[in-house]
Amino acid sequence: MASAALLLAAALAIGARGADALLRFTCSELVTERLDPIVFPGSSQSPHLHQIVGGNSFNITMDHSRHDIAQESTCTTCEFSEDFSNYWTATLFFRARNGIFNRAAQRPNVLFDGARGGGMSVYYTAPWDGSKATVFQPGFRKIVGNPFIRNETAANQCRQLSFTCLDALDTRTGETNAVPNRICKEGIMANVLFPTCWDGKNLDSADHSSYVAYPSSGTFETNGPGPASHPVKIPQLFYEVIWDTRPFNDKSIWSEDGSQPFVWSYGDFTGYGTHGDYVFGWKGDALQRAMNANCDTCDGPGTGSGTTPTHPTTPGTGNGGGSCTVAKWGQCGGKGYTGCTTSASGSTCKKQND
Ligand SMILES: *[C@@H]1O[C@H](CO)[C@@H](O)[C@H](O)[C@H]1NC(C)=O
Ligand SMILES: *[C@@H]1O[C@H](CO)[C@@H](O)[C@H](O)[C@H]1NC(C)=O
Repeated sequence: MASAALLLAAALAIGARGADALLRFTCSELVTERLDPIVFPGSSQSPHLHQIVGGNSFNITMDHSRHDIAQESTCTTCEFSEDFSNYWTATLFFRARNGIFNRAAQRPNVLFDGARGGGMSVYYTAPWDGSKATVFQPGFRKIVGNPFIRNETAANQCRQLSFTCLDALDTRTGETNAVPNRICKEGIMANVLFPTCWDGKNLDSADHSSYVAYPSSGTFETNGPGPASHPVKIPQLFYEVIWDTRPFNDKSIWSEDGSQPFVWSYGDFTGYGTHGDYVFGWKGDALQRAMNANCDTCDGPGTGSGTTPTHPTTPGTGNGGGSCTVAKWGQCGGKGYTGCTTSASGSTCKKQND
């Protein structure tokens, strides 16, 4: 399991070299609801609850042939105003001694205090050999991890999905691939890294993942080559989601046998079934431009095609961040939801479910 801390440190070092390197930004909550347009398109209630960030055209179905994300979205909860992608994960609950389940909120990451509803941080890292990233294409989507996995052997098939027990908000060591079974003073961070080798052709498949693969030897960070079937290096997509477990840090409310009390919305107390979902939705070539300009450090703002995409310096301000408060397709709901309650014109905003 590669260390996310190592990844960040090294990625920042690349940034210092000025190579095509890294985007790191925050996205506020869009909605928390039981929809899953990748695995259960058209189903008004997916089996488990998700927290979703990004473009406000997130919908019950997102078939690329009928749903052009960058066109349909009128705003995004992510910092780059050109990024209408959707990023999502399951949600975390605390089971109290009395048997009651409480949803853990999310909390903003270091440097991203303005993220409404906590949201999540997203990274795109270019190949470590310094080559230009081949960015995702419209229609591209993928899932990493598997909600049915419950043991470590099976979990190891999906590399680089882990948890960090946050003794401090900036703790970046000691990752585990099970949910930490101890008090994490500042919360539990879920780290979700996606595979980085693409078959160069497919944007989706029945399993929503086999057209991407891990390097056949070495790792992304050591420039390991992809398998022959997956020769194209794509940016490494990485989510950090911080679950605010602080309200539950009193062991007297944990189960009497002392067992780990946090459970994912898909019924997993182990954490081995952790997973993340992605639907690409950057406008035009904005992701390519942002990667080329190494916009983690670029000075934006840019103004449209040909220049660097806008990189707001204050999370949660402007289009791109917490002010994306216009729901498009029913994104108004979920227990603990703090987002918009009015819709874009022509759409109906209705609470889905939680
Ligand atoms: C989004 O979902 C709503 C409700 O199911 C539907 O009416 C609308 O056509 C969908 N929009 C797109 C772009 O798929
Ligand atoms: C681990 O889980 C997999 C399915 O995810 C199962 O096939 C395998 O038997 C399990 N191994 C053990 C040791 O329980």
